[in-house]
Amino acid sequence: MTNKIRKAVFPAAGLGTRFLPATKASPKEMLPLVDKPLIQVSVEEAVASGIESILIVTGREKAPIENHFDISFELEQLLKERKKDELFDMVRGISEITRISYTRQKQALGLGHAILQASDFTPNEAFAVLLADDVVDSEVPAMKQLIDVYEKYGDPVVATMQVEGPAISRFGVIDAEEVEPNVFRVRDMVEKPAFEEAPSDLAIIGRYILTPDIFPAIENTKKGAGGEIQITDAMRDLLEERPLYAVKLEGTRHDAGDKLGFLIATVEFALKRDDLGNEFREYLRSLDLS
Ligand code: UTP
Repeated sequence: MTNKIRKAVFPAAGLGTRFLPATKASPKEMLPLVDKPLIQVSVEEAVASGIESILIVTGREKAPIENHFDISFELEQLLKERKKDELFDMVRGISEITRISYTRQKQALGLGHAILQASDFTPNEAFAVLLADDVVDSEVPAMKQLIDVYEKYGDPVVATMQVEGPAISRFGVIDAEEVEPNVFRVRDMVEKPAFEEAPSDLAIIGRYILTPDIFPAIENTKKGAGGEIQITDAMRDLLEERPLYAVKLEGTRHDAGDKLGFLIATVEFALKRDDLGNEFREYLRSLDLS
């Protein structure tokens, strides 16, 4: 088995109920961070981390995602005619970003079930999983941080971040031992524990490196929290057979699938933009926030 992570899976078939009505007829992965859809932000992260081939697991609303990564013939023609070379290059570049294929999760039965749809895409090699609504703003691309750990240890890796206080109850939480700075060997993991019972302050977020033995583990996983097939449960089963590592990510994570998280991510990304940052900062300063 090659030790290189070449493939990535993007589960994008969730119903996005936290973002209704925007997600009624369009995927939340197409919500823009300023002007770039969330899914493009994370596809770029994957490519910057060395990924060569991507499978997007879509649901009933797949068309906008597929169209976004396809050639946009009329638009390109028009941009060419109007000599908008920069915009043309940008639009064309999106369709050439990397190899992308699609499969459909017919029912939103949970993240574990969505990942199971990738079993034909990557039957024999370890692969990356990225959830586009978890945006990680970091110096080293988040997925690269996981790949570095995988290449060293050769076992599955989950991304975590520190969460202070009762907010930890919204996450899967690891019980783990630090084996080198910011790298942990996982002893156990619990989905959404009560604050008092959380085994640590390290919450699992939407980046994983998984190995193909996860597929039978998912098949054997019963419906868990919310009646969904949870990836945490399948990984927990696998823990009995092989080591699992966690990396505490360097960077800031935003939950862009949540309205407040999305607003915060939007403001932070806008402030960093060369073309918008200064004016936007002035506008924010001018607000009477009392
Ligand atoms: P979320 O927990 O954010 O669920 O899924 P959701 O359904 O998308 O959104 P809410 O909570 O109802 O607002 C985490 C990731 O797993 C994918 C989602 O697309 C998202 O990227 N997912 C979830 C699937 O692909 N299929 C599923 O059945 C469930």
